[in-house]
Amino acid sequence: MSDILIHAETPTLAFGHAEDADTPAIVGLWERAGLTRPWNDPHADIALARRGPHSTILLAKAGAKDGAVLAGSVMVGHDGHRGWIYYLAVEPALQGRGIGRALLIAAEDWLRARAVPKLMLLVRPDNEQVRGFYQAAGYLEEPRVVFSRRLDGK
Ligand SMILES: CC(C)(COP(=O)(O)OP(=O)(O)OC[C@H]1O[C@@H](n2cnc3c(N)ncnc32)[C@H](O)[C@@H]1OP(=O)(O)O)[C@@H](O)C(=O)NCCC(=O)NCCS
Repeated sequence: MSDILIHAETPTLAFGHAEDADTPAIVGLWERAGLTRPWNDPHADIALARRGPHSTILLAKAGAKDGAVLAGSVMVGHDGHRGWIYYLAVEPALQGRGIGRALLIAAEDWLRARAVPKLMLLVRPDNEQVRGFYQAAGYLEEPRVVFSRRLDGK
């Protein structure tokens, strides 16, 4: 994990960008956090997000550097207009300790450093619990209809 400077709320947390060796742990985290879906290949999603300069995956690791374990992750990127986050996840046993909020702030900082003026995110309608998290972080729920089309034939 390459280090980046982020003001963590938990002193034992280290924040950085995902590297190749982090991929299995990230996929496991996403699975335990309930974020994977059969039609999305998490390995391909991670590879694509890490390929270019306009997106990345930020990690929060807990514990000593040698034995640090993955505590949370967020995918962040921009499309030249808006910033987007995906796959915000905190290890279930570590939820409720401010790690999710710290990752959200890290994603905001990453976008702000690139002069992106607005952060967007999608929440599945059945994920009631997470709405409170974003509202508590000052996010507005906006009335929009989302259209999409798969380009990979799936
Ligand atoms: C959503 C998630 C990332 C939050 O991470 P977390 O580390 O548990 O959240 P935090 O401890 O940082 O919470 C930050 C603040 O939000 C508040 N909060 C968290 N969940 C909340 C909820 N459901 N309703 C209201 N407030 C909530 C906390 O009370 C805390 O407020 P405080 O700082 O005033 O005490 C985590 O629950 C998770 O991984 N969920 C499963 C995956 C998921 O649904 N991801 C989002 C996909 S869009």
